[in-house]
Amino acid sequence: MTTHEGVGINVTVNGESRDAIIDVRETLVDFIRVDLGLTGTHVGCRTGDCGACTVTVDGEVVKSCLALGVSADKAEIRTIEGFAESSEHLSIIQTAFWEEFGFQCGYCLPGMLFCTEELLKKNPDPSEAEIREAIDGNLCRCTGYHGIIRAVRRAAEETSQAQREKDELRDEEVWARPGERVDRALRGRESES
Ligand code: FES
Ligand code: FES
Repeated sequence: MTTHEGVGINVTVNGESRDAIIDVRETLVDFIRVDLGLTGTHVGCRTGDCGACTVTVDGEVVKSCLALGVSADKAEIRTIEGFAESSEHLSIIQTAFWEEFGFQCGYCLPGMLFCTEELLKKNPDPSEAEIREAIDGNLCRCTGYHGIIRAVRRAAEETSQAQREKDELRDEEVWARPGERVDRALRGRESES
C-alpha cells in the first residue's frame, strides 16, 4: 500500500511479523532502529565501511545502512537481538566472543557475529587468514582484533564438537532402535506365556 505518508510493508523480524508504513527514502538501518525499536543494530559510518549495522535479510548478510527499508518488504530479517539460541541461552558464537574477550563496547558485534556465522557455515575449520578475510569490512575500535580471532577459532572448534556430539547421539539412537524392538518383543512373549 502507498499513501502520501509512505509505503506499507510487512517484514518478519526475528520470527515476528511486523507491519509498517515507511518513507520510501528511509534506510533499512533506520527502519530497524527507529520504527522497530531494535537498537542492537548500530550506526557507525552510514557508508558501508564499519559493519556495525549488519543484519541478515533472507539469510544473506547485509549492511543495513546501504539498503532501503522498502527493499525488505516480505523479507525475513534477523538482527543481533535474534542471534541467541533463546532468551536464556547464548549461541556458541556469542559464548566464544564472551569467553575470549572478543568485544568490549560491543558496537561492532552485529557485523562480527553475523560474519562469523556465515564463515563457519561455509568453512567449519578456518585458518587465521580466512578469519581475517571474513571479518574484513568490520571495524573494531576496542579490541585490537586478537580476541576476535581467538573467539572465531573457538567458535569453530565448539561448533564442530557440538556437531560431532549430535552425530554420535543420532548414531546411538539408530543403533538402539532395533535392540529396543527386540526387548519389546521378548517382553511381549513373556507376558503371553
Ligand atoms: S553503519 Fe553501515 S557499515 Fe557502518
Ligand atoms: S568492541 Fe568496541 S568497537 Fe568492537
